Amino acid sequence: MAALSSVVVSLLVLCVCVKAAAPTSRWIEYIPGNITLILGAPHGGTEQPTSIPVRDAGCYINGKCVYRHDCGTKDFSKCKVTTVQDSYTLETTKAVADAMARKYGVRPHVVLNLLHRNRLDANRGKPDAAFGDTEAEAAWNQWFDYIESSKGDGIALFIDLHGVSSHPEKWVEIGYLIKGAQLDSGDYTYNDSSIRHLASRVGIDFRELLHGRASLGYRFDRLGYNVVPSPTHPGPDGGKYYSGGDNTRAHGSKYGGIVDAIQIEMPKHLRDEAICVTFCPDLADIIYDFWARYYRQR
Ligand SMILES: *[C@@H]1O[C@H](CO)[C@@H](O)[C@H](O)[C@H]1NC(C)=O
Ligand SMILES: *[C@@H]1O[C@H](CO)[C@@H](O)[C@H](O)[C@H]1NC(C)=O
Ligand SMILES: [Zn+2]
Repeated sequence: MAALSSVVVSLLVLCVCVKAAAPTSRWIEYIPGNITLILGAPHGGTEQPTSIPVRDAGCYINGKCVYRHDCGTKDFSKCKVTTVQDSYTLETTKAVADAMARKYGVRPHVVLNLLHRNRLDANRGKPDAAFGDTEAEAAWNQWFDYIESSKGDGIALFIDLHGVSSHPEKWVEIGYLIKGAQLDSGDYTYNDSSIRHLASRVGIDFRELLHGRASLGYRFDRLGYNVVPSPTHPGPDGGKYYSGGDNTRAHGSKYGGIVDAIQIEMPKHLRDEAICVTFCPDLADIIYDFWARYYRQR
């Protein structure tokens, strides 16, 4: 009887492990972590398998874009999609996780989209992301599932890492889903943000949390990085700025839940210096310090 139940237990354990370990797509790389911090890089991939068609444009049907490869006549003026790769962001994300493990003895979960953005855009809803292609959809599902399963049951922080090359300010852009014009005018509340849950539980004035000394931006600022929002730049002051994308919407707390999300856009000159020798360890310190203050379980 005891032997039988231990067989049953081992079978159960085996099934759970097999289920958890079986990836549905080889295009998403997952490096397991051991803290409630998840780093994602959706746009750094370079793989362009011929089995997945190129994302180019959707069709304009009844006043809106339909993103499917088989939608009919594609409309390249109204429904063209962005396929620009965020160079070096896979390397940067791994380097940050490694630096954190070395320095602090903890490892964030890392989820990387290995596909080029012209095959899968892992920062879009599934239709726009995968254009109805089965293999691309499996990769999108895998991306989503790895992030979900990394979150655990309690509070957690998801950080979506991107690279921007086209903004002349060359600053780090931290996105909380609050638009640049709102940051500039001050017309927002914590309810508009992807860190809504954090703001609701810490009892810190929201402006302080967003761009004061309690903020993530402050932690860049004090190491000498040009960053928005921060004490130096509470808003972009009309400049170029990304406030966050679909991952920040889907995995943050703006629309509910207790997991927060933040997008970080890294300018090119920081991330492409020989595998990020200065910036990556700094970024590990910055993110770790913010996570440890607000998310570490005590
Ligand atoms: C977490 O991961 C780090 C880095 O790999 C390791 O040094 C540490 O022992 C791990 N901690 C736990 C509790 O597993
Ligand atoms: C934020 O939303 C909560 C719950 O919906 C509400 O009680 C609170 O008054 C809102 N706060 C602000 C500043 O808008
Ligand atoms: Zn990007």
